[in-house]
Amino acid sequence: MPETLLGRVVRKQSWMEPLSEFVQKAVSGTFRFLGPPGRPLKNLLHGTFLLRHPLHPALTDVPVGAWTVGVVADFAAHFTARIPEAAGDVALIVGLLVALLTLVTGYTDFADTVGMERRFGCAHGLLMTLVVAIEMVSLGLRWWAGEAAHPVAVGLSTGAYGILLLGAWLGGHVVFGIGYSVNREAYLAGPVDWVPVGAASAVPETGMHLVEAEGTQVLLARLDGAICALADVCTHAGGPLHEGTLEGGVVTCPWHGSRFRLRDGHVVGGPATFDQPQLLVRETEGTLEVKLADPPL
Ligand code: FES
Repeated sequence: MPETLLGRVVRKQSWMEPLSEFVQKAVSGTFRFLGPPGRPLKNLLHGTFLLRHPLHPALTDVPVGAWTVGVVADFAAHFTARIPEAAGDVALIVGLLVALLTLVTGYTDFADTVGMERRFGCAHGLLMTLVVAIEMVSLGLRWWAGEAAHPVAVGLSTGAYGILLLGAWLGGHVVFGIGYSVNREAYLAGPVDWVPVGAASAVPETGMHLVEAEGTQVLLARLDGAICALADVCTHAGGPLHEGTLEGGVVTCPWHGSRFRLRDGHVVGGPATFDQPQLLVRETEGTLEVKLADPPL
């Protein structure tokens, strides 16, 4: 299928690579600089804590909605005088306040992107940062430059809204076109019934062991005398969990460091926001069998 013109243009912008690397290092360095509070703060901004769902896309609705109202209110006030000019100003401020937090969550997510998701994420982030900058100038004009500058401020906000729509398209493409932040185990369908996966003796006393159950990669490891099983493909971006580390009953993904409880797959550290699917394990005459703990309906 031919790619859209915008997609082709972004794909060719190789100059974004060094910029992306610089921004990613700056973001990661900032969280490291914050010391012990850095990790929980990063988890909060990803959505791993509290929301347990990607936070950035949930926040984006607020500025998009507020600025849509703002542009309509600006024009309605200018051409009909049926609503006060302040209506557009208030919508701009509401959008701006949430947009600043949205930018922070977006940059946090961006720090763990690679390849084309990073290229399109960079284009998305640049446009959205530009929108926020223009809206801040517009707010400054409304606030300090007085009535005479109001039409210029409205013009700036209207232009920013056009850029916002372009940036929103790119953000949507990063998620729906490329699949960033989509749960990589969302379509896991089985095994629904018990499936043999080999001898219990093959699971080492320490470390992780990879098996396959009806096409599903399964990680096996021992915890407090019992054998636990999780789907091996990381929910964040598909990393092979069995190549990561296992320490204190927590599996750490080798790609971006998401952490999951071995006992039940619960995500305890981002950037992943979704739990890792758990499989039940039973042993019959020395042979291990597994099946999904929560099979799809
Ligand atoms: S693939 Fe990103 S943390 Fe596992």
